[in-house]
Amino acid sequence: MLNIRDIAITYGGNSIPTVEGVSLEMNQGEIVSIVGESGSGKTTVIRAVLGCLPGGGRVIRGQIQFEGTDLGSLSRDAWRSLRGSSISMIFQDSGAMINPIRKIGPQYVEYIRTHQRISKKGAWDKGVEMLERMRLPNGDNIMRSYPFQLSGGMRQRVGIAMAMTFQPKLLLADEPTSALDVTTQAQIVRQMMELREQYNTSIIVVTHNLGVAAYMADKILVMKQGRVVDAGSREKILNNPSSDYTRKLLDSVPVMGGDRFV
Ligand SMILES: Nc1ncnc2c1ncn2[C@@H]1O[C@H](COP(=O)(O)OP(=O)(O)OP(=O)(O)O)[C@@H](O)[C@H]1O
Ligand SMILES: [Mg+2]
Repeated sequence: MLNIRDIAITYGGNSIPTVEGVSLEMNQGEIVSIVGESGSGKTTVIRAVLGCLPGGGRVIRGQIQFEGTDLGSLSRDAWRSLRGSSISMIFQDSGAMINPIRKIGPQYVEYIRTHQRISKKGAWDKGVEMLERMRLPNGDNIMRSYPFQLSGGMRQRVGIAMAMTFQPKLLLADEPTSALDVTTQAQIVRQMMELREQYNTSIIVVTHNLGVAAYMADKILVMKQGRVVDAGSREKILNNPSSDYTRKLLDSVPVMGGDRFV
């Protein structure tokens, strides 16, 4: 469903690519994790897939195909209808999606109405239904709340609910759990895995946490300085990594009760 072929990305007319030689093939219902140190280009790759690179970022080589369509050839309008419906994104702490000084409800209604012709009441009800499906009790009450009245975990569930509103085929999650405490992290990770079970959603999850990647992902991509240094099935990466860098990352995952992961 997603086929990234040897892409290179630059920012702001820079001639040296920030990201180079990234390839990934992904099937419907698969979970892929991108791991790597800060600045390695993880966010750059998933933003390229979503077609929203900041700072004059551009894919200068290679191709990103989504369901057989070259995303680079899409018009603005085609992008607009794809983004948020077929492909959507969850941000770290949902900060980039939810305005902190407005109540959730009006924002959610607005978001739904940019993608669907529906009455305000209809959009409100749809929002409430999605929130409750994401295990937020009393969705109506959440809709009437300001973001700061909710816990970090609840806000992140609101972000997931919004991203799942139109049952996207591909969900991009950028550090979706790193702002949360360990217990809440585990809940959000489990919830994302349920999305795959219920909706067969494909998920790319960016994380610093190799434990999260090991727990969730079918395939893992390890990045360093804009390059892929290791890629393959979870088993391959965990048991038989080909790069020293991956081995170092693995060694730095704390061992708990003799069990290395999660
Ligand atoms: N808006 C931007 N304008 C110019 N260059 C950028 C921009 N965003 C990222 N870059 C460049 O791309 C590189 C990779 O950044 P990116 O955000 O993709 O890394 P990351 O792996 O997501 O890091 P982190 O784990 O800290 O989120 C940065 O080191 C920077 O040089
Ligand atoms: Mg990032």
